[in-house]
This record gives sequence, structure tokens and C-alpha cells, in this order.
Amino acid sequence: MLSSPRWAEILRTHVLPWLESAGELGDDVLEIGPGPGLTTDLLLTLTARITAVEVDAGLAAQLARRLAARHVEVINASAERAGLAADRFSAAACFAVLHHTESAAIQDRVFAELLRVLRPGGILVGSEGYDNERTRLAHAGDQFVPVDPQELPRRLEAIGFTGVDVEHGEFDFRFQARKPA
Ligand SMILES: C[S@@+](CC[C@H](N)C(=O)[O-])C[C@H]1O[C@@H](n2cnc3c(N)ncnc32)[C@H](O)[C@@H]1O
Repeated sequence: MLSSPRWAEILRTHVLPWLESAGELGDDVLEIGPGPGLTTDLLLTLTARITAVEVDAGLAAQLARRLAARHVEVINASAERAGLAADRFSAAACFAVLHHTESAAIQDRVFAELLRVLRPGGILVGSEGYDNERTRLAHAGDQFVPVDPQELPRRLEAIGFTGVDVEHGEFDFRFQARKPA
């Protein structure tokens, strides 16, 4: 699914317009959990330079090979400890990644790390699936720690983000927030 033409089409028709309306991503974007990289391809239409942090060694190697000619650095690491410099990135993106982490506490550690590496005023953009029967079925036998969209603003604000906004789509919800300037 995550490398399918159908997913590429959903990203182009649903996620791209939302991303464009969220604001400029700037010149140095961090993406965590790119997987096969269709979301990286989407981000490359909006920014010149991407650092992609992927925990799966095989997927990271494949993505590095496929995008070798672009300004994409792929790091094989977990997002909460990738050794990135503080205050560096103009934007951070995480599409359908957080539910793969082991607990809400680890999700919060990932958010805290994204806040640390964003520039002041930098934007966080992301999406997550709803907790419903369909999504649980799709993750049978797989890690699934859903993010509650109602709880998300409180969690992000407690970590230090401002301007949190959650938009509800048919299959997933999208969120944006900023590191205070
Ligand atoms: C469902 S896929 C999403 C892929 C892509 N973002 C998309 O929407 O098409 C989730 C990806 O996040 C990666 N991932 C999960 N936990 C991670 C972590 N802690 N740090 C970095 N990547 C992670 C997984 O290996 C997987 O490639």
C-alpha cells in the first residue's frame, strides 16, 4: 500500500493541498519514517533539501539508493535519537509514523525531539490514522498505538509547541504546530 500508485494519488490529491495551505516548509526539512518514500517524493515538490530518518535499515538503504541524485540524506536511526543538531530544520514531517512506536510516552519523546531540532518558528506537519476497526484490521499482528486527535493539541502544547491545528480527513487526520519563534 505505502509504495502503491493509489497511495501516491491520495498524497497528491488530499495531503498536498493541505500541506500547501499549512505554510512554507522552508529550505531544510526533516522527515521521520519515510518508509518507501512516497511522502519524501511529495515533500521534494515543496522543498529543496530533506533529511529522512528511517528506523528500518532495508527501507533506509533503498530510499538512499533511489534518491541518491536528489538532495536527500537518509539516516538509519530511530527518530527520538538520530543525533541531529538543535534548531536546524525549517520544518519537520511525520506521516503515518507515530502509531508504529511502542507507547504514547515514546511518541511524546519523538515530539520533544522534533521540537528540539526545529528552528524557532519552524513548522511540524504530520498525519495519523483514526483508531477504528478498519485501521486495527490493517495493523493486525503489527504495532498499533493510535494517536487520539482530541488529545493531540494538549500533548503538543505540553511539550512546547504552539499554534496547534488538527484537520479531520476521511481516512486520517492531519496536524500542524510550530516551535515558538
Ligand atoms: C506506515 S509507514 C509510513 C511511511 C510514509 N511516511 C508514508 O506515509 O507513506 C511508517 C514508517 O515509519 C518507520 N518508523 C517507525 N518508527 C520509527 C521511528 N521511531 N523512527 C523512524 N522511523 C520509524 C517505519 O519503519 C515505517 O517505514
